[in-house]
Order: sequence, then structure tokens, then C-alpha cells
Amino acid sequence: MSLLHDPVAFLTSLHRQGDIVRVHIGAWPVYFVTTPELVWQVLVTDAGDFELGRILERQRVVFRNGIVTADGDLHRRQRLLMQPAFHRSRIEHYITTMNEHANAMAGAWRPGQCLALDEHLHELMLTIITSTMFSADPAAAAVAEVRRSLPLIAKGVMMRSALPPVFDRLPIPLNRRFTAASKRLRAIIIEIIDNHGGDGHDLLSLLRTARDDQGRPMSREQLCDELIGIMLGGTEATANIVAWAFHELAQAPHCADRLGDEIDTVLGGRQPGGKDLTRLPYTANIINETLRLHSPLLNMRRATQPVRIAGVTLPTGTEVAFSPYVLHRDPRLHDQPDRFVPERWDTEDPALSHTMFLPFAAGPHKCIGESFARAEIAITIATIASRWRLHAAPGNQVREVLASVPRPNALPMVVQQRRTDLLPR
Ligand code: HEM
Repeated sequence: MSLLHDPVAFLTSLHRQGDIVRVHIGAWPVYFVTTPELVWQVLVTDAGDFELGRILERQRVVFRNGIVTADGDLHRRQRLLMQPAFHRSRIEHYITTMNEHANAMAGAWRPGQCLALDEHLHELMLTIITSTMFSADPAAAAVAEVRRSLPLIAKGVMMRSALPPVFDRLPIPLNRRFTAASKRLRAIIIEIIDNHGGDGHDLLSLLRTARDDQGRPMSREQLCDELIGIMLGGTEATANIVAWAFHELAQAPHCADRLGDEIDTVLGGRQPGGKDLTRLPYTANIINETLRLHSPLLNMRRATQPVRIAGVTLPTGTEVAFSPYVLHRDPRLHDQPDRFVPERWDTEDPALSHTMFLPFAAGPHKCIGESFARAEIAITIATIASRWRLHAAPGNQVREVLASVPRPNALPMVVQQRRTDLLPR
């Protein structure tokens, strides 16, 4: 059993071996921590003793100085500059765009149609992120270029995270496509930044006008690095979570019924506004339960000074890893851990507290896009579920495929009409 061949089985086996387990990944020793308390220590309590580990370092070729891969003072400065654009109060501005595009997608479906839900959702999330970022400003050709390059880069980033640096220099098509796509994406984003008029409310406008405590704006290159981080962070994971939510709902018809009832009662056929999102508790349960079951597989940090964890002193430079995915399915923490039970979120279960539930991580590098993602996921689920009931396509076996958040290999689903009053005329 190995990390590359069967990551879930490998990581789960570590959880059975102890609170801190030393393994070799390739030539490197890595310490895995397997309890929520130790993960919290690494991410939050002792965050000052760690920098980003090897996985994110391997992604620096794409994100460069952006917050995804920046550390220390640069990260702190950039985080402060960017935080306001992702504050809950700003999300209201993005909700109109999210609604518009989710509605257009679900409105184009036809009763009885069998569609590749995962592909529709990737397309939707890409449209939402480019529209909230640049408003209506950039030329369609520029947006098309972004859409063409991003999936190639996401694939390259995933491969590089898993493989040693020597892989980067191999003259194989994957590397050539990755390098070419990275160059194209950077060039087009710099062009968009240079020509951006914006509406004053889009993400790029907010980031352009942000100033640090000495009144300095971000450089053009820094803006570009941050936009690439947001685009890559903000598409695949959200699309995968909505895809998994509908996959799970198709296996649990009573949950789909309860979701439909809540949406009909609260929204009555309207698109959700910002305030509605707090009035959809069962929808929020479904999102949390999907995030619990389909979390990032692996995260890492590296000690910048000797640290003591679970009675073991780790020297400077030690790589420490953990798996939110396996933690969230640990039978020591959760009843029937592999089952989709949104109702578990109705109760005050301590295993669901913020220290044990880490789909967006925690500490200084916690996902900056959590509120954005939660709004986007809720709106997409509510928009689809108000009109349609999605059923698993007969004969399709869904498997998890390695990605930042594991994704379904393919998700064909059959669309059944729920409400005739919401279908386009
Ligand atoms: C379900 C959806 C999402 C999940 C599960 C997710 C998960 C995460 C996680 C686990 C991290 C921290 C990585 C670490 O600790 O090393 C992170 C960071 C980040 N995420 Fe997300 N994310 C999601 C959606 C988004 C969205 C929608 C955006 C942007 C609109 C976004 C932008 C970012 C950025 C820029 C960072 C880097 C933050 C930093 O290092 O300071 N993410 N995300």
C-alpha cells in the first residue's frame, strides 16, 4: 500500500498506528499527525514554528509570491491586503453574479436529460470566478484563454505536488502543456490587469485599490500571482463539493426530500439572497456533511525550529503532514463515519467543533475564500434543487480521483423535474 497507489487506504492505515507516525515518502521522512489536537497544534497553536511544507513549495512555480505559497512577512502583508475583498459583507456583491450564472445553468437543463454534472459545475464555477473577479470588463477572448489554461495548470500542479522535482524537467507533453499554459495565463492576466476599468466592486477592483499600512498598493506581478491563486483555489474544490453533494443526495432520497421542502418553504421559487443563506439550516447541514466526507486529502507543514509534538522532538526542517479527509472519517470521532448523515449537524456534537472539522484548514493559512465558497455552494445547491431532482445514471460506478479535494471520476446524472413553475418558457 502506498501514498501514490491508494492514498486513502495508506493514510487511513497511519491513523491506526498512533498519534504521530514516521513514514518515508520517496526519499524523505515525514511525520504524520493523526489526532485533531495535534493537527490544531501544528496549524494554529504552534503555527509560528512552521512554514508551508513540500507540497505547497512544489506549487510555487505557479503561485509564486501569492498568499497560497507565500510565507512569513510577505504572507502576512498580502493576507491583510486581501482579507477585506473576502469579508462576509463583500460576499453580498458577489451573490448576484452567483445567482445569475447558477440560474442560467439549471434553466438550460431539460427533463429526462442525462448530463455530466461534474463538467457543468466546473464550467459554472469558472464562470462565477471570472465574472466576480473582472466584472464584465475583459474581452471574451481573454476569459476564454483563462478557461483554456486553468485546467491544464491545475492538473500540472497536482502532478508536481505528488512527484519529485526531477519530474519537472522531463520533456513530456504534460510538462510542455503546463509550461505553455502557465505562460499564456500570466500574459493574459497581466493584460487584463493593465486594461481593467472594472465596476469598483469586482475582486480585481478591490485588490487594486487595497493599500498596506504604509500606503503601498500591490505590484502588477503580485496582483497576477494573487489572481491565479484565487482562480485555482476557487473553482475545482467548490465544483467538486457540489458534485459530491448531489451524488450523496441521490443515494439518500429522504435527505433530498427534506432539502426540497426547506428550499420551497424558505425561497418559494425565488433565487436566494445573502440573508436567505442563514435561513437554510438543512442546506447548511448538507454542505457541512459533504465537506466532512470529501475534504482535502493531504496538507503539510515544515518545522522552522525544533518543536515538541506528542512527546517527540522534531528537529528544524522536519516535514509534518496530516489528512483532513481521514480525520473527518475517523471512527474514534464519528458515529458511522463513512455514512452521509446531514442530521448529525443538528446536534451539538463536539466532534463537529471547529477544532475537529478542518475542510478549510485553520490558522494563518486558513482558506481565505471560505465565505465565498459557502455562499457559492449554497446558491448552486438551492438553485438546482428548487427545480430538479438529480438521479444517478444507471450503471455508473463513481470513484474518487486524486485532486486537492478528491473529485468524482465522472458524474453522469439524470435530471427529473420538480417544479414546473420554474422551468424556462
Ligand atoms: C469547498 C471549497 C474550498 C475548499 C475545501 C478550500 C480549502 C482550502 C484549504 C484547506 C486551504 C489551506 C491550505 C493550507 O493550509 O495550506 C485553502 C487556502 C486558500 N484558498 Fe481555499 N478552499 C475552497 C474554496 C476557495 C475559494 C472559493 C477561494 C477563492 C475564491 C479559495 C482561495 C484560497 C486561497 C487564496 C488560499 C490560500 C490562503 C493562504 O494561504 O493564506 N478557496 N483553501
